[in-house]
Amino acid sequence: MGKILIKNIKGLVQCGENLPKVRKGAEMKELPILENAFLALEDGVIIEYGLMSEWGGLEDWRDLEIIDADGKFVLPAFCDSHTHTVFAKSREEEFVDRINGLTYEEIAVRGGGILNSARRLTEMSEDDLFNHAIIRIDRLKSYGTGALEIKSGYGLSVDGELKMLRVIKRLKSACDIPIKATFLGAHAFPPEFKDNHRGYIDLIINEMIPKIAEEKLADYIDVFCERNYFSVEEMEEILSAGIAVGLQPKVHVNQFSALGGIRKAVELNALSVDHLEELAVDDLEALKGSSVMPTILPSCSHFLSIPFGDARRLMDSNLPVALASDFNPGSTPSGNLSFVWSLACVKMKMTPEEALNALTINAAYAMDLSQTHGTISIGKKTAVILTKEIPNLAYIPYSFGDQLIERLIIS
Ligand code: NIG
Ligand code: FE
Repeated sequence: MGKILIKNIKGLVQCGENLPKVRKGAEMKELPILENAFLALEDGVIIEYGLMSEWGGLEDWRDLEIIDADGKFVLPAFCDSHTHTVFAKSREEEFVDRINGLTYEEIAVRGGGILNSARRLTEMSEDDLFNHAIIRIDRLKSYGTGALEIKSGYGLSVDGELKMLRVIKRLKSACDIPIKATFLGAHAFPPEFKDNHRGYIDLIINEMIPKIAEEKLADYIDVFCERNYFSVEEMEEILSAGIAVGLQPKVHVNQFSALGGIRKAVELNALSVDHLEELAVDDLEALKGSSVMPTILPSCSHFLSIPFGDARRLMDSNLPVALASDFNPGSTPSGNLSFVWSLACVKMKMTPEEALNALTINAAYAMDLSQTHGTISIGKKTAVILTKEIPNLAYIPYSFGDQLIERLIIS
């Protein structure tokens, strides 16, 4: 890997040294941009940046790729801290059911939804799951995603969950972007345990977690804490077993109801609490002063026609917000983070700057990648987006549905 010099950059976004690991509250409006800049990359690392007028030239011009970014912006790659990228098949029949009047929850209660994906996963080989995921990840990269979290959760059996996590482990070594693995065995109760929650929780704690720890198959542990899924008490028990083997919680909470899962997740030192379409006063109180990243998934709200997370209320409480895609076959069949950016602006009244902080600095934090991703700083990994020619940064979320990312440049 040689050197890359990007010159004549119209705006070099989110660049600087000693930038914060998290931007919260009013700080989320801050977004440093260097106009008419250059960026130098070597061996997969950012080595220099500055104004074109200050460029000192290169000592060694061998093995150099020069990119002329005239009229274009360069920004840190998006970090997608919440996805379900490994799955067997799409579920457009449920999409049609919802158009015809059923809700996501009604479909799930009838055995559709997550259980539908779980049935299909048993029929697909590990190799096929892997090959499908690779194609999806290539597409996500073309949208500017330079780091990806992927959950299990469509296995719902010892074999199924291990199968998913092994696929994610293979993806980690096959892909040129960092991937974090989250164990989500507690995504739903499989039908055979519908009336035997104790039995499934025992399976998770006594069979799945020890094997996952032994084979080092996961970085985090997740539970879908929701009515008809896992109660706060069940979540606590499962997360505690994960914590005991070194898995930090990152949880699904408050998608349809506020059950108190946020306070519990804060107590258990979760890295992030995700969804938050519903937010009670006590949830907000629990988050204040904590180091947990509230993560909102606007494409899920869009696709299921449920409320959008109240980012303004979180930021007004001096809290940070991260945004992620939730890419999955049921609630969010799109992993396009430019669209997430747009929804955050249009539907959640985040400014373009606030939303970009939520997709870069704060999202990197929500997947433990602050050291290498999230900003354009010397020593960080080469993971940057080159846009097409655009008049200004707000033009990206403004032009919803357009592909304005020309290319993802990664090490
Ligand atoms: O984050 N809410 C739970 N899990 C996923 C949806 C999974 C599915 O429907 O397949 C989500 O939206
Ligand atoms: Fe999810």
